[in-house]
Amino acid sequence: MLLGTQRINSQGHLEVGGCDTVELAQRFGTPLYVMDEAWLRGMCRAYRAAFEQRFRESLVVFAGKAFLALAMCRIADEEGLGLDVSSAGELHTGLRAHFPPPRIVMHGNNKSVAEMDMALGAGVGRIVVDSEVEIEALQRAAAERRAVADVLVRVTPGIEAHTHEYIQTGKIDTKFGLGIGTGQALPAIERVLASPNLRLHGLHCHIGSQLFDLRPFDIATRMMVDFMCDMREATGYVARELDLGGGLGARYRATDHPPSVESYAETISRALREQCERHALPQPKLMAEPGRSIVGEAGLTLYTVGVIKDIPGVRTYAAVDGGMSDNPRPALYGAEYELVVANKAAMPINSRVTISGKHCETDTLITDVQVPELAVGDIVAVQTTGAYNHSMSSNYNRLPRPGVVLVHDGQAEVIVERETLDDLLRQDRVPPRLEGKQGS
Ligand code: LLP
Repeated sequence: MLLGTQRINSQGHLEVGGCDTVELAQRFGTPLYVMDEAWLRGMCRAYRAAFEQRFRESLVVFAGKAFLALAMCRIADEEGLGLDVSSAGELHTGLRAHFPPPRIVMHGNNKSVAEMDMALGAGVGRIVVDSEVEIEALQRAAAERRAVADVLVRVTPGIEAHTHEYIQTGKIDTKFGLGIGTGQALPAIERVLASPNLRLHGLHCHIGSQLFDLRPFDIATRMMVDFMCDMREATGYVARELDLGGGLGARYRATDHPPSVESYAETISRALREQCERHALPQPKLMAEPGRSIVGEAGLTLYTVGVIKDIPGVRTYAAVDGGMSDNPRPALYGAEYELVVANKAAMPINSRVTISGKHCETDTLITDVQVPELAVGDIVAVQTTGAYNHSMSSNYNRLPRPGVVLVHDGQAEVIVERETLDDLLRQDRVPPRLEGKQGS
């Protein structure tokens, strides 16, 4: 499987963004995240075009949780997207990247007062309120600043989308949002409307992630418009904005066929148009918050094979120089990946190995994958690691986090430096009483 600008070059090496990945591994070391700028920008443009063609007013908001770095914020800004942030850290990154605050959407199911205050101070475009407690706290924070917070209310339509349980976030039994079916959403809306320092713009929902089936999006859109109608009846308030969150899947395996951005946009546009007509509601501004589908397939991770261990009659393990610290998804969600042996991309596939990491537990990255005959020193490229890899990486076993390189037209530029061993010690402190004493 080759993705985006990937191809096999004349040396039989995997190339991405016009860069030979074997050379990237030599130049920058491994493990290394590589992001294909053409794919990133292509997806941003595909989303914008698909929405602009179908909705009178729309905003595509990149979900920073999938992959956030200053350069990524710059790309999202240049492409005219908004930015979804869900913590002070993500907001700080956006602001430091000079991302225009009016296009920032602030999320979080448990925003601290400091985070709300930071968002208000920065003048973010929308704060998505998630609970009764938050409505009260945000009202207080805004009043103290003599400011008005522009809000959306996150509601849960009660849909069970077909995806891993941990990333199924739109059902009734969830920590997110205010349930429509449970009767909690409407009182919350009334409360926002009655809060002098909160200005309501509309509704938000997010039903889940890595979805390949468009029906849940269709159903969710219709349910949201139905709720907009109930809301109008109960309060007289007509929502002007509808943010449907993210969720469109990415291609991890050759057998994966995620729907196109166009068919996704078409599904929600038809549902929105039909249901608004039915209820004689004006069409709201449509917002969506894609993360994975923008950055997922743009990324690959390069590793060096360090050890090959054959267990006769059982399996062959090839251990690479990273693992669950740079990609926790196989361990967390049972996620499956594909790989290309970067320096043997044109060689016949004649053996089967299990790729494991170097952590002190069974951190299998890919089970039983077909590859050319592997040797120590080979460079493997694990595909589709652009989303929720770097952003979920850790320093388990005190492994420095890999760097991120952005490739484009044969150029490779570091956008996140690899951590050094000293970076790992930067926050460590030794109380004086423990300093300098030698063990006996
Ligand atoms: N908007 C909201 C409010 C979200 O909670 C999310 C993802 C998104 C947008 C973006 O969804 P996407 O387009 O990326 O599916 N760590 C998990 C994924 C968690 C997604 C959580 N929310 C994973 O690695 O699969």
